[in-house]
Amino acid sequence: MVIFNELYNFAGFNNFNDLKIFTTKNNLQQHLLQIQDSHRTIGLVPTLGALHQGHLSLIAQAQQYNDEIVCSIFVNPTQFNDPKDLEKYPRTIEHDIKLLEQAGCNVLFKPEVEEIYDDNEQWHLNIGELEHLLEGKFRPGHYQGVTQVVYKLFNIVKPDTAYFGQKDYQQFLIIKKMVDLLKIPVQLVMCPIKREPDGLAMSSRNIHLTSEDRKHALILSKTLNWVTSNFNINNISQLKKEAELMISNEPGVGLEYFEIADGDTLHAANQNSKNIVALVAAKVGKTRLIDNVLLVHGR
Ligand code: PAF
Repeated sequence: MVIFNELYNFAGFNNFNDLKIFTTKNNLQQHLLQIQDSHRTIGLVPTLGALHQGHLSLIAQAQQYNDEIVCSIFVNPTQFNDPKDLEKYPRTIEHDIKLLEQAGCNVLFKPEVEEIYDDNEQWHLNIGELEHLLEGKFRPGHYQGVTQVVYKLFNIVKPDTAYFGQKDYQQFLIIKKMVDLLKIPVQLVMCPIKREPDGLAMSSRNIHLTSEDRKHALILSKTLNWVTSNFNINNISQLKKEAELMISNEPGVGLEYFEIADGDTLHAANQNSKNIVALVAAKVGKTRLIDNVLLVHGR
């Protein structure tokens, strides 16, 4: 692995079992130019790394519809409102590379911070209310950082299609809004949540759960399942109350929010909502987890 680090730092590019690794925009773009010139399509899977089966399912989905798959791994500092959270975000690059090779991913883009950001760079996108609801309340500035980096990645890679996980449902709505506002020519695909056999939503942050936390964390998916089974549009506020109680009664779990929301606006759902989604965020031990389930889809 030492050799690997030296090699790719030196050349800005390396190739292991067909996975090409680029650390600079220029080298990546030179490679992608050949793909674009030969009218082959590019699928982008942007990630923060610490890859798991959820990420691999995005890559598999991208492979079905594109000729060249680019996965980016970049722990984007601007989307972490808490410096401690940024510091302890899991970084497992050697394992990530193995997974990408096994998955047959074509390109890994793994830039350093200086390759993406100039000093004192400013960014503000008017995303409207969506930015400040739910996740936005608990992670102020988070979605400015997300849109900032995703905008840059779209500009660098110029993908035909980009793939995001449903677990970050609000993030998907916000990126869709940015793409509409800025008229970015990219198609967005939201891929279903991948779960462990016991129901826990896969997340890079699960690494931080102690075995006790891991047991208590199941209350999130259990509650979402319970809401799904008992869903009745006339009884949304009652369901929400019960769900909040179920989660709050679980030891070691600090509920941040539970909402049964309109899937487009993320305001409380009503009779006219075409899409309805139940979303939850909670601290389990020291680890913040989110999860959601679609209750009504495209009525
Ligand atoms: O969902 C994530 O992993 C990140 O927010 C993203 C989209 C890669 C931007 O850094």
